[in-house]
Amino acid sequence: MAPVKVTKICCSGPTCAVIALKCPHITVTIVDLNQARVDAWNSPDFKLPIYEPGLEEVVREARGRNLFFSTDVDKGILEADLIFVSVNTPTKKSGVGAGFAADLNYVELATRRIAQVATSSKIVVEKSTVPCRTAESMRTILEANSKPNCHFDILSNPEFLAEGTAITDLFAPDRVLIGSLQTPEGISACASLTEVYANWVPKDRILNVGLWSSELSKLAANAMLAQRISSINALSAICEATGANIDEVAHAIGYDTRIGPKFLKASVGFGGSCFQKDILNLVYLSESLHLPEVAAYWRQVVEMNEHQKRRFSKRVVDTMFNTITGKRIAVLGFAFKADTGDTRESAAITLIRDFQSEKAYVNVYDPQVVEEQIWTDLAEASPLVPEEQIKKQVRICKSAMEACRDAEAVVIATEWKEFNEINWEEVYQSMNKPAFVFDGRLLVDAEKLRNIGFKVVTIGRP
Ligand code: UDX
Repeated sequence: MAPVKVTKICCSGPTCAVIALKCPHITVTIVDLNQARVDAWNSPDFKLPIYEPGLEEVVREARGRNLFFSTDVDKGILEADLIFVSVNTPTKKSGVGAGFAADLNYVELATRRIAQVATSSKIVVEKSTVPCRTAESMRTILEANSKPNCHFDILSNPEFLAEGTAITDLFAPDRVLIGSLQTPEGISACASLTEVYANWVPKDRILNVGLWSSELSKLAANAMLAQRISSINALSAICEATGANIDEVAHAIGYDTRIGPKFLKASVGFGGSCFQKDILNLVYLSESLHLPEVAAYWRQVVEMNEHQKRRFSKRVVDTMFNTITGKRIAVLGFAFKADTGDTRESAAITLIRDFQSEKAYVNVYDPQVVEEQIWTDLAEASPLVPEEQIKKQVRICKSAMEACRDAEAVVIATEWKEFNEINWEEVYQSMNKPAFVFDGRLLVDAEKLRNIGFKVVTIGRP
């Protein structure tokens, strides 16, 4: 069976913007039901709906050439040879599997819409992170609802992008994973999508595997990455208690080529939209498969992360003479990591909530996160605390300097480069004494700060 030559794609997000850039011969339409988002994608001054370094340049080059943005989902489906389904799969908030399982409602709605609207055969690509064997459900829905002469092939093509480096990750991916049924039709559909990526990705980096392996690999990759962080964070607790230095330990073990040096940075805890969600998903999957020991193993990775955040808050309180009541703490950074405005599962949210419940005052500054988002996250984190109370205790500042003024302590929650470049002498002069710095990201030069006069507490050091 000859692979279909893809000339039109319907999809969403940065991946497809890059496909458009790299494949000028393919028309790419990014469809979204949300008018405000589509307007932002189309805005004349390129005020795009997401902040991602390099994305604006990609959109500037391809928009209007072979990259289009629209709310007309049906037209997008009708015209495309290949459709990426990239919708949200948040953790379920109620019903069976609440708090663990992925909510597949949007995946199902999108699949039904494709079946309803399509009048010709399509390749449907599962891009959202989904539990293993979701493609099976998609196929059943498509086959049960399709018109005669419409054949659907399902592929799994998980996203491995990290926020803040999404565009460089897309330009030079470690690998592109495409999963298909091992039938002649499945293999042929896989070849069609491989050809699209092969426009800029070396063939040996495009991996073709079975559908279920592809689905599970996405969860597995995130679980293994998060597990590394929880492992190094568990060791950071031992370092603090023994006098070992977590940076030295990470450096030493990272030299073993089997372990490798990446993703061994101890921190106040991992955040982001994927790690916790995907692990909980894996826990739920394991439980559904009657594998309780496997479920418990992965659950511990998330529990360790929660412990790390709690441990850090406690260390702040303990160090500041066992009370922070009425004291002012500057929290630098609110995003879950540097170079993003995303705050999902950010450790800063938990820290500020803990400081609030100790009756401290908090000044918070982040170079990217918008004020409204901070209020929303803090309100969600403390549903029983009235909004006025939160606003009495928390002040959002316009600069790190402003946040630190008259504070008793500075807590570094996100590793923004600019926090390293602060004039720490000036910060010290403006703070109450003794002035504490709690570095939750191993960011600042602790020795230099100590010489200025700060009392410095760093994660993973005694
Ligand atoms: C992650 C995966 O890296 C990516 O492949 C997947 O597609 C989506 O999830 P992302 O959430 O954007 O990407 O961020 P990542 O850079 O992985 O960091 C996640 C969290 O771990 C952040 O809070 C980060 O600060 C923290 N982290 C990362 C550490 O604490 N230590 C490290 O060594 C690395």
